[in-house]
Amino acid sequence: MTSTPAHPASKTLVLLVDDQPIVAAALQRLLASFADIELIATQDADTGFSLALSRRPDVILQDLMMPGVDGMEQIVRIRANPDLADTPLVVLSSHADAATKEQCFGAGANDYLVKLPDALELVARIRYHARMGRAQRDRDRAMRSLADSQSELVRRNAEVDAANRRLFEMNEALGQETQEHRERFAEVGALGAKLGRAQDLDEVMDQALRLARSFTDADAGSIWMVGTGGIRLVYTQNDTLEAALGSGERLPLADVVLPRDSSSIAGYVASTGKLLRIDDVHHLDNSLPYRFRPQIDVQTGYHTRSMLVAPLRDGRDEVIGVLQLINARGRGKVPVDVAVFTAGDEAALTLFASMASLALERARLVRSVILRTIATAEMRDPTETGAHVQRVAECSVAMYDRWSALHNVGDSERHRRRDELRIAAMLHDVGKVAIPDRILKKPGKLDDAEYRHMQTHSVLGGRLFADASTPYDEAAYEVAIHHHDKWDGTGYPGGVDAAMIAAMPVEIESNPVAKPLRGLEIPLFARIVAVADVYDALTSKRAYKDPWTAEQVTEFLRKESGRHFDPELVDIALELEGYFRSVRLRFP
Ligand code: C2E
Ligand code: SIN
Ligand code: SIN
Ligand code: FE
Ligand code: FE
Repeated sequence: MTSTPAHPASKTLVLLVDDQPIVAAALQRLLASFADIELIATQDADTGFSLALSRRPDVILQDLMMPGVDGMEQIVRIRANPDLADTPLVVLSSHADAATKEQCFGAGANDYLVKLPDALELVARIRYHARMGRAQRDRDRAMRSLADSQSELVRRNAEVDAANRRLFEMNEALGQETQEHRERFAEVGALGAKLGRAQDLDEVMDQALRLARSFTDADAGSIWMVGTGGIRLVYTQNDTLEAALGSGERLPLADVVLPRDSSSIAGYVASTGKLLRIDDVHHLDNSLPYRFRPQIDVQTGYHTRSMLVAPLRDGRDEVIGVLQLINARGRGKVPVDVAVFTAGDEAALTLFASMASLALERARLVRSVILRTIATAEMRDPTETGAHVQRVAECSVAMYDRWSALHNVGDSERHRRRDELRIAAMLHDVGKVAIPDRILKKPGKLDDAEYRHMQTHSVLGGRLFADASTPYDEAAYEVAIHHHDKWDGTGYPGGVDAAMIAAMPVEIESNPVAKPLRGLEIPLFARIVAVADVYDALTSKRAYKDPWTAEQVTEFLRKESGRHFDPELVDIALELEGYFRSVRLRFP
């Protein structure tokens, strides 16, 4: 595999292999005034080959007529070496006959120059090939990490399925005593299997909590995850508080971190790994180490009473989090104000928590793979931080939820689709890996040519998912390609299709020409991410702009409704603005 080049990335290292010392001297002179290019030269093909391996030049200039190993053999040998196969190679020759040229290109040369070239032309070609080689390497790296993650995920999915089946059989054998137990275990087993299908971490948490609340009839619930600073509240649901919200409002995500010790209820479960079933948190025995913390109730006006709190464990049995169910409602059999969780709830939650843990662990892997993939781009683009993509994903999903409610999308389709959307939204700008640093990292405004080049990030990103084989790839493809298309047809890149993408050269400096795409022709997910991405870009500081105020952003969204953005989605975003702000607090 290609290792990191030994020279600084800002300098372009050129290796010249030519038996005539006078050529090296001449090139040395030609290139002396270009500070970004460093030349190393040798007169011997074998030395040239080992220098190529040890120094990893950005570009090789190879003479054709040489004693010993001649230039053509050298090209073949370089192309056959996996470490050098992608290094740009330019033939330097004193002939310009068509047959020789063809032979060189056939053997794998990238370019052909007749000696001695003009200095400016030589420099231009060296820079071009160096840039192209780097872009190719970045793309290869992104592709490899995507391909690795795909096969890892397929394997993990199979493991989760098998483990869920084993758990289910084990618990079925244990729970044979009563008809009621058998029925509940069957129900919980089916729910756990359903959970096994979601890929995205937030989606798994959301569904795990919803499902656990449904079979215990709990009014509210939370998920806490173990982290370095303690345990963090990562998810909450609350039917009573949600019912009191206006249409389109969402509960804000409170940022709560507790020590991982016995002083709190969730902390006790996280630190001891024991399940807790509490009838009334306001009447805890004084001998118990934990106390109920009323702060959240005070903030929200909610009254917490009963709790059922289970640990979530990973494959090595370490506690990774806590699933907390709040306020049993008694399934209509018991008055709500005296209902408590039962021993049957406890047994059912124990089974469900082990199934949920597997799904959570797998989803954490998906998330880390995606963040790693993004890090490939992030190393080069200071604006595309993990926090930015998580905010864009979170806001996109909130918008899709609201859109689904307005369009009567069923719950199971909605859950499946938003799992795909969250992953696709996080990958929207992954094509920036292929944009040169001088553009990506430019501190000021881009000029027209630079901006046109920058715009290729959408098709370059789409190309990474062009061999769509799963719904996740398809969603990622749509979002990457079309997140800068505009409702009125003035965005980019427009209606590029698979054939146009396949026909694109490796490196492009502007998008292929395509018919404008407008309105509902733009895929829904791309329309959603367009709003979420611009919202986030405007409210963030960028190297080229200061953050806008909330009023400026609101006014911009209104003004661009029906121009840049889908008007329906602008209305949804405006309804959700308070929630969007809480998302920024959670992912600062
Ligand atoms: P980004 O910074 O994530 O911005 C995403 C989109 O938000 C932009 O897409 C644009 O639609 C919107 N946006 C961001 N900042 C502003 C702003 O100050 N005013 C307005 N009216 N809209 C804004 P766009 O234009 O297609 O740009 C795509 C990416 O190109 C940007 O992603 C950024 O990485 C880069 N870029 C765009 N313009 C510049 C620039 O002048 N300088 C630099 N260094 N990069 C730029
Ligand atoms: C706890 O588990 O003690 C925390 C309860 C809460 O603050 O919601
Ligand atoms: C979809 O659910 O992706 C199709 C709906 C739309 O594009 O309006
Ligand atoms: Fe973008
Ligand atoms: Fe972005």
